[in-house]
Amino acid sequence: MKNFHVNTEIFFGERALERLAQLEYDRVIVISDPFVVTSGLIALATSRLDSAKIQYSVYTDVVPDPPIDKVIGGVTEVLKTRPPCIVAIGGGSAIDMAKAVRKFATQIEPAYRPSLIAIPTTSGTGSEVTRFAVITDPAAERKYPLASEDLIPDEAILDEELVKSVPASITADTGMDVLTHAIEAYVSINNNEFSAALAEKAVEISGQFLIRSYSDCNDTHARRKMHIAACLAGLAFNSASLGLNHGMAHQLGANFHIPHGRANSILLPHIIEFNSGISLTSRSQDNYPPCVLRYCNMARTLGVNNINKVTTVRSLISYIHFMAAEMHIPARVSEAVNITWEEYESHIERMAEAALEDGCTATNPRKPTKEEVMEIYRKIW
Ligand SMILES: NC(=O)c1ccc[n+]([C@@H]2O[C@H](COP(=O)([O-])OP(=O)(O)OC[C@H]3O[C@@H](n4cnc5c(N)ncnc54)[C@H](O)[C@@H]3O)[C@@H](O)[C@H]2O)c1
Ligand SMILES: [Fe+2]
Repeated sequence: MKNFHVNTEIFFGERALERLAQLEYDRVIVISDPFVVTSGLIALATSRLDSAKIQYSVYTDVVPDPPIDKVIGGVTEVLKTRPPCIVAIGGGSAIDMAKAVRKFATQIEPAYRPSLIAIPTTSGTGSEVTRFAVITDPAAERKYPLASEDLIPDEAILDEELVKSVPASITADTGMDVLTHAIEAYVSINNNEFSAALAEKAVEISGQFLIRSYSDCNDTHARRKMHIAACLAGLAFNSASLGLNHGMAHQLGANFHIPHGRANSILLPHIIEFNSGISLTSRSQDNYPPCVLRYCNMARTLGVNNINKVTTVRSLISYIHFMAAEMHIPARVSEAVNITWEEYESHIERMAEAALEDGCTATNPRKPTKEEVMEIYRKIW
């Protein structure tokens, strides 16, 4: 038996942030990305709390790829005052941190279960609707996706006003994260008709609006569309889960601090090639694994359908290379970090072991061996 459910109430469209003025809490804690505070963006949220006479405190000890000690700091802060609601505002890092903070605070004090409202300021992770929170263990150089129903936010607010300030390079990285979520969910061994519908729409929107929103940050229509696509892709992988692409990308983030979406973008063409078994020299076959048919659907959705399945999968791979190049995203690790091959190589075996243990990898359509994962890490150098 399968089931599909959306636990998060989603407020979206023009002036979606007005939802904050409707809250019936007397006080909240806002957990925010520091950029959102220093840039003044936070006023878009706090002015609504002010108008509803809701008291608030703002906690900003959030860093990209939140490590365990920052989460513990947040739990301590929240348990000091036990507000009935947590408002998380920021990129995936701030939202993941708030999700983990709420979960651990409730584990420590079971009678305390605040509601959680997630307000993304990047159009990428879809974390505002998922049961995942990715936490970093810097000592072990690992990122762990926690997965649990009690991580899911109660409400999400998608207001494109908050993403207008996202610079082009972060628009590119986070947008490629959306595309990767949708494609991985679509070929996951846990895919289903509901997740597939969401993934197809997310890919269709990304194909039309990602490069537009990268090229002109004032293109509000494109920004709004990508903000919705990120959430659709989040709903898709919340149901179907992800795959090897994310399992491997998490290790590139933990070891070399490559931004999450950029790591996904570097890997995506190679993972499609690995899963489909279709390389530049492949000939047509009588039978293909199911993921090949699904990659062909994705290619069709992006408008790059070709003569047969081999050429269509190759077109999909080429199109992903094209999108990344168009947005100046590095195509390989050596272009993304300032390290030597020797240093990178010394991490490969441990990264491959961690990628195989990563919860995302379990739903990949092709079960990889350690040697195969190491080979992909070498290829992307
Ligand atoms: N929970 C999930 O389901 C899920 C899914 C995918 C990824 N993740 C995790 O989410 C994290 C990545 O999140 P992200 O890609 O949103 O990046 P992020 O939250 O780390 O933010 C990236 C940068 O963008 C800046 N920023 C955020 N909003 C901005 C704005 N409006 N204008 C200008 N700059 C802004 C931040 O200050 C930061 O410097 C990673 O840790 C990744 O592993 C979680
Ligand atoms: Fe992701």
